[in-house]
Amino acid sequence: MFDIQEIRSQFSILNQEVNGKPLVYLDNAATSQKPNSVLEAYNRYYTEINANVHRGIHTLSQLATEEMELSRRKIQKFINAEHDFEVIFTKGTTEGINLISYILTSELKKDDEIIISYLEHHSNIVPWQMLCERTGAKLRVIPMDENGVLQLEYLDEFLSEKTKVVSLNQVSNALGVVNPISEITSKTRAASDAYIIIDGAQSAPHFKIDVQALDCDFFVFSGHKMYAPMGTGVLYGKREILEKLPPFQGGGEMIATCSFDGTTYAGLPFKYEAGTPNVGGNIAIGAAVDFIERVGHENIQNHENALLEYAQRQLLEIEGLKIYGEKAHRTGVVSFNLEGIGISSDVGMILDKMGVAVRTGHHCTQPIMDFFDIAGTVRASFAVYNTFNEIDVLVEGVKKAKRMLA
Ligand code: ALA
Repeated sequence: MFDIQEIRSQFSILNQEVNGKPLVYLDNAATSQKPNSVLEAYNRYYTEINANVHRGIHTLSQLATEEMELSRRKIQKFINAEHDFEVIFTKGTTEGINLISYILTSELKKDDEIIISYLEHHSNIVPWQMLCERTGAKLRVIPMDENGVLQLEYLDEFLSEKTKVVSLNQVSNALGVVNPISEITSKTRAASDAYIIIDGAQSAPHFKIDVQALDCDFFVFSGHKMYAPMGTGVLYGKREILEKLPPFQGGGEMIATCSFDGTTYAGLPFKYEAGTPNVGGNIAIGAAVDFIERVGHENIQNHENALLEYAQRQLLEIEGLKIYGEKAHRTGVVSFNLEGIGISSDVGMILDKMGVAVRTGHHCTQPIMDFFDIAGTVRASFAVYNTFNEIDVLVEGVKKAKRMLA
């Protein structure tokens, strides 16, 4: 039974006015709000069991360790990883991709190739450009069409024995387009022995993730976009790959032995978790997983898809409004502009005066903006607590912006 009011009651932050109007929070692709159960888990760590993990014989250290490791096992189940030690805590998707691109350095040589796509966030472009600079490898970019759909015939053309990395998002943050990841992974496996990396920042909050079914080598996502605190994230990597590749950062926790004659590294997952982790945040990801599972993946997807369809239908009735990726299979995001109004932030500011929070600008995806020859878009992005009434407020706000700015 899906009870939207009951869900909303778990998010105290939603129950406030902004600029004298009820808050309508539609910037969930940037970061979601956090339910009380997540905040309580975070708070409980600091008020009851704050201690460093994996280091102390004392009771609080053991309790903190147990809670964090319990959260790791919840995440393992959440993404269907084979082993809990394949789940590495990070501070977000960006760190996850940077970590992977760094540890792959010695796997690539001059003229090897890395395949990404036009639809990527800067965090899935720049680390690969940096890897190309370090190794002499080349970046190949799968183009998209006018609907924001990847032109996969180019993947077929690009794949060869030179391909060492294929790194794509499952859902575009700027447009909400859902990429056919299974088709991409099976094509890649058939034609190369490339490492397959999936940026799940915008899919983990919305879909059931199954890393084994996806057949990826790495899957990265952020906690803070899926109801957990800022500064949290997860990197999944296949056991044999993480065991083979070198560590990322050196320091405490990631060593087995350390001496001036040389150091040996700890086993997984600690090899990739140097330094004191964000224990409270990592515990709170487990609480966010519990929240998502209590609501149910199917309920989340049905509700968010209904919101998207409702928003799209109403927005398209506004003359001169263009939705980017309108005809593509999308989730959670509607990205648009009003004809003749070149500055998306002007629309965003009028919406803000009405209590509506959206993101405007290039959304860290400048190549997509260049493709459409625009500076930015207005992006409304949905979470499970959004309502149809909130979409009505958004649509009224866009109409008002049009009247004021046209
Ligand atoms: N990547 C986040 C977004 O799309 C910040 O807004």
